[in-house]
Amino acid sequence: MIPEVIYIETTNFCNANCIMCPHDRMKRKKIVMEDSVFHKIISGMAGIDLSNTQLFLHKEGEPLCDNNIAERINYVCKKLPKVKEVGINTNAMLLTETITEKLLNSGLNLIFFSVDGTSKETYDAIRINCHYDTVEKNIKYFLKERKRQKKNIRVVMQMLLTDDTKKQKEKYIEKWEKYNVEFYFKEMHCYLDGGNSTFVEPDFSKQIRCCTDPFRIIVYYADGSVGACCWDYNNEFVIGDARELSLNELFNGERIAYLRKKQQELECRDIKPCNRCGRVYGYDKISEY
Ligand SMILES: C[S@@+](CC[C@H](N)C(=O)[O-])C[C@H]1O[C@@H](n2cnc3c(N)ncnc32)[C@H](O)[C@@H]1O
Ligand code: SF4
Ligand code: SF4
Repeated sequence: MIPEVIYIETTNFCNANCIMCPHDRMKRKKIVMEDSVFHKIISGMAGIDLSNTQLFLHKEGEPLCDNNIAERINYVCKKLPKVKEVGINTNAMLLTETITEKLLNSGLNLIFFSVDGTSKETYDAIRINCHYDTVEKNIKYFLKERKRQKKNIRVVMQMLLTDDTKKQKEKYIEKWEKYNVEFYFKEMHCYLDGGNSTFVEPDFSKQIRCCTDPFRIIVYYADGSVGACCWDYNNEFVIGDARELSLNELFNGERIAYLRKKQQELECRDIKPCNRCGRVYGYDKISEY
């Protein structure tokens, strides 16, 4: 099997403290990934057909807190030229003109800008330590330069749906559509015990569905340990270590096979963190992705 989505968390530092994000509850040490680990991860992907795989250089943290993010994107593009798309999600607060220039020329194919709302009041109350005016200015500069330099980079404006932001959806589209962007309106999910969701009604006595994550994704955490779940921000279920194993060994190894089997049997009661996950024990709206 080959993953559909690969996340490499080149740093788990963040410049923000958003109200819906478990980042402030993360127990893992905050670091920038060592180059030796990053290079080992990429060399462990050589020879694998990644033409249907998206590779993101972020996970729990802000990718622009990694001073070498553009160089790392460039490294991936050179070493893995056939990968379907290389992307990042960013809050854009640190997206200076210099970083924009570097990113535009890094080989990046896809960038998600996380902008929750169309007003300073709404946005600043969610994205603590970020400032709406700065973020809007930074993104508009990026979009202007993308157009001027004729760069073929997909831009997705992503807004989390809260009671406040929901009311601003039309205005959001009106504001950004003229810049040739795509939109992603994302339901808030529970992120295990660390995030916010109004939709989860879990009953932990009965698992009701099999999670798709271990069949689709792989996550390389900043210290080189590896997981197979989008929500496991503390990497409680480790499938291996990238300093020792290649992508193929990790994604087709015994540890992940065990997790998949337990998921298929709906028998995750002894598996942390699945045994407290609203995605398989409840009705989180985002469950089906
Ligand atoms: C963990 S962040 C990392 C990248 C970057 N710091 C950012 O904010 O875009 C990745 C994505 O998760 C989203 N996110 C954070 N908390 C969430 C929640 N409770 N439900 C759904 N998405 C969430 C953010 O909006 C962001 O788009
Ligand atoms: S959503 Fe992104 S920017 Fe906000 S705290 Fe989490 S990682 Fe940081
Ligand atoms: S069930 Fe929840 S914790 Fe387990 S792999 Fe899926 S999303 Fe992650």
